Amino acid sequence: MSALGLTHKILKDHLVEPAELPAPGELIKIKIDEAFTQDATGTMCMLQLEAMGIDKVKPLSVNFVDHSMLQSGFRNPDDHQYLRTVAAKLGIIFSPPGTGICHFTNMENFVKPGMTGVGADSHTVNAGGAGAIFMGAGGYDVALAMATGMYTMPMPKVTRVNLTGELAKNCMAMDVILKMLEIVTVKGGKGIIFEYAGPGVATLSLTERATITNMGAEMGATTSIFPSDERTKEYLESRGRGGDYTELSADEGASYDDEIEINLSEIEPLIAIYPSPGNVEKVKDHAGTKIHQVCIGSCTNSSFENIATFAETLKGKRVKVDTLLYPGSRSVAMQLADAGYMSMMFHSGVRIMENGCGACIGQGGSPPSEGITLRTFNRNFPKRSGTDDAECHLISPLVAAASALTGEITVPEAKDIPINVIPPVIDTDSFIMPDQADKSEGVVRGPNIMALPDFKPLPDVVKGEVLLKTGDNISTDDIQPAGVFLPLRSNVKEYAMQATYNQVDSTFAERAVAHRDAGGEGFIIGAENYGQGSSREHAALCPRWLGIRAVIVKSFARIHVANLVNFGIVPMTFKNPDDYDKIKQGDTVSFDATDLAGDLFLEVNGEKLPLERAFDKDVIPTLKLGGALPQFKATFKG
Ligand code: F3S
Repeated sequence: MSALGLTHKILKDHLVEPAELPAPGELIKIKIDEAFTQDATGTMCMLQLEAMGIDKVKPLSVNFVDHSMLQSGFRNPDDHQYLRTVAAKLGIIFSPPGTGICHFTNMENFVKPGMTGVGADSHTVNAGGAGAIFMGAGGYDVALAMATGMYTMPMPKVTRVNLTGELAKNCMAMDVILKMLEIVTVKGGKGIIFEYAGPGVATLSLTERATITNMGAEMGATTSIFPSDERTKEYLESRGRGGDYTELSADEGASYDDEIEINLSEIEPLIAIYPSPGNVEKVKDHAGTKIHQVCIGSCTNSSFENIATFAETLKGKRVKVDTLLYPGSRSVAMQLADAGYMSMMFHSGVRIMENGCGACIGQGGSPPSEGITLRTFNRNFPKRSGTDDAECHLISPLVAAASALTGEITVPEAKDIPINVIPPVIDTDSFIMPDQADKSEGVVRGPNIMALPDFKPLPDVVKGEVLLKTGDNISTDDIQPAGVFLPLRSNVKEYAMQATYNQVDSTFAERAVAHRDAGGEGFIIGAENYGQGSSREHAALCPRWLGIRAVIVKSFARIHVANLVNFGIVPMTFKNPDDYDKIKQGDTVSFDATDLAGDLFLEVNGEKLPLERAFDKDVIPTLKLGGALPQFKATFKG
């Protein structure tokens, strides 16, 4: 048998179809060992599982609550209550608010070397630090993985990253991943798994490795993975999980699609300058820039070692700017307290925040207008901090500490910083395990929880009104804005009525519902690049709830097409783009959907305009049945 890399070994072990690992780009179906959600994506995922008619999930599954914890009204706690009770019903572990950030808490408690997993969050890739293949996926895909224990994905390419040397004393794992971002760029990781190897690997602890795999998401990578070795064993044993350890590495002489060399000794302290994690520069080139805020923690840099090093650098001296700590888990927060570091940070004037995402997604902790915030987090896109005109730069915990003390961007000194290492505090009591959960109250649905509607099959003739005609470059944010509407994610009716296309045409939702209730099928006509931007599922789900059955445009952004199909909206393009001009908002139009594989025409004003399929022929059964959920029910439940 030929020598295999670590990625190929794990994928081969989990391969369901085809019989052998195919060429990159071809689809593979793999067995999934764990699937999880966080609260911002989890409610929709759970609603989809319920709509599928699932009684019990197949793989190890966890609902973490870490994103929406401000609880200034009933909506967040309603979501949390629903997630807790639906988890008990479906056999899912529930991680309550305050237990910790999904990726960090997942690593502490559930990830084992050699596992596969999917999570409804892009930084699920964090788990690669422990020798596992974990990937971020959409809510429906995670629901499907929970229901079936399987996941279908394109076979990735594998790039070996050969690490040599050892980091300088003023550098940390954050500088390694910033170096990778400088080399690979924010787009260069698409379709690739980065497999770290070489003598430099042993110089990094498991949590340092997880910082590196976490931000593989910023390169657009499928995921990243480290070998499982003595450092992995050390981490698992420290958490009382020595039995979960398996040694795993690539075979000698394994071949890869590409290779990158990084000498850790040559890395200097780095900074990702606003507005992209890919704008990597040297900290020394920005030294002296005045700052307004420092934030440490998040799923990227939350280990005991990270925060203890930060606290030791402050050494009780007062910080000069607003400084906030978001510990990755209650376990880490308790370990820091027991080792005396919480007290040290209080004395330094650090604000100790909740064990959750917080400022990372603008849930509190926003910087002032036109302010500069330094963060040990993974993203610095415009507006993410919650302050539209603030700038956010990404840095290591050492740069964070040095800069908090001076009030300006500061290169940390290269010196030993001994920390008081004590055993971790194990916090498994925070979880509600399905076999211990109180199921007597049933699934509790507060007013913010709305079950997904039953979507009807596609009629043979789809006839109705053009409810909206748009211009070029309509984004999923134009279709379904997020921001203040986020707490409505578990309430499709309210989200659709309040938000769908509200900034384009405030009358759209009401007109669409009236048309739907009168028995018409709704149409949207669009121009070029329709559905660009984030892969937001609600940008298809809410229009479908409003009665939209077909979107016909000059061209689509690719990912939106899959979401439209999943919710039973037929995506098509004009064969002759000029036909766009022959249709007005308010026109009555129709098309014959009896044979979606054949020639398609839109009938309007007595004319037949030829259309092209924007969907693959293999999803025709999904469209005919009304979307992926009805199709799942028909396929798996007979
Ligand atoms: Fe949370 Fe930010 Fe990580 S939102 S999951 S801390 S990327």
